[in-house]
Amino acid sequence: FSPALIDSFQRRHDYLRISLTERCNLRCFYCMPSEGIELSPKDHILSDDEVIRLASLFVKSGVTKIRLTGGEPTVRKGLGDIIGKLNELRTIGLKSIGMTSNGLVLHRRLPQYVENGLTHLNLSLDTLDPFKFEIMTRRPGHDVVLRALEAALLCPGLQSVKLNVVVVKGLNDSEIFDFVDLAKDKDVSIRFIEFMPFTGNKWDKAKMVPSSQLLEKLSERYPDITRAPDELNDTARSWKIPGHRGSIGFISSMSDHFCASCNRLRLTADGMIKVCLFDAKEISLRDEMRRGASDDELLQLIGRAVLGKQEKHAGMEDIDVATNRPMILIGGVTPRN
Ligand code: GTP
Ligand code: 5AD
Ligand code: SF4
Repeated sequence: FSPALIDSFQRRHDYLRISLTERCNLRCFYCMPSEGIELSPKDHILSDDEVIRLASLFVKSGVTKIRLTGGEPTVRKGLGDIIGKLNELRTIGLKSIGMTSNGLVLHRRLPQYVENGLTHLNLSLDTLDPFKFEIMTRRPGHDVVLRALEAALLCPGLQSVKLNVVVVKGLNDSEIFDFVDLAKDKDVSIRFIEFMPFTGNKWDKAKMVPSSQLLEKLSERYPDITRAPDELNDTARSWKIPGHRGSIGFISSMSDHFCASCNRLRLTADGMIKVCLFDAKEISLRDEMRRGASDDELLQLIGRAVLGKQEKHAGMEDIDVATNRPMILIGGVTPRN
């Protein structure tokens, strides 16, 4: 494990999230401001070769898990080839390639991605009601996302399928039992996510539903619900209802953060290393790479960024939303064509 990926709180970072694009084919309100975002000029976005070069540096330094995000990763041209090239990094230590997608254009292409090396899929779907889907995403497409879920569950080779549900009070918090029912006969992990504050997403504490409240409701209806084991460094705390195939998880980034076990680093589509979701400080690996930096020089830069990582985020009411990017530019999954 390279010292470059160990921070000053002795956290080892073996998980890299790579954002492949700033674009998206949905417009989820929690992910981007309603006025839209200004896209980076095309030549600011990392090329396939640059992505692979940086990814291989991270893997040589100890990263074993890569997750592709966006914007929406499936709108990146040549995604299948990128997955294939990342797959070659298995020989130097990469163990899994995940992707977080909104599922809008996934169901036909998924088998190819899996054949190329994709091992884990997280789908974003916040509601089982097609009308609410359009309110939350500002676009149609509910039925296709459900089709993507079915395709994923039938896809041999995918090691896990998870469904991300960002819970917003008054919008979809009445649907938790519908999601539980969905996972009754399907091998899917439903993850209820606390709404997080980002630039322009009109976050308000009153709209956030703490995981503890949802768990209380679940326990009332399912008194024999039990805690399930999680993977090391998991964002979610998982629960099982006896007799149900799937599981239920809670991602409580706001009410009960998991920063102490954080093992994540992010590479933005425009080539910045971002060491924390909520820290606006970033260092451009792209600029140094384009200036001709050697692998060692890039590793030094990565090490400097990692050493600057804070112990934890500032707390939901003190996060500096104004200087941070909107989620779409960090690794959300949603908005802009
Ligand atoms: P797995 O690799 O399956 O564990 O996925 P994940 O949960 O790490 O990633 P995913 O892209 O599915 O994101 C789901 C939710 O996890 C996001 O909405 C965030 O709330 C939360 N999340 C992901 N990464 C981070 C992170 O670095 N910090 C915090 N605080 N939350 C994160
Ligand atoms: N709060 C919580 N989760 C969010 N996501 C995007 N924006 C937010 C937010 N403001 C989720 C997406 C996707 C994951 C990568 O992040 O739904 O599933
Ligand atoms: Fe890691 Fe920052 Fe997320 Fe905490 S808020 S888990 S430190 S990325």
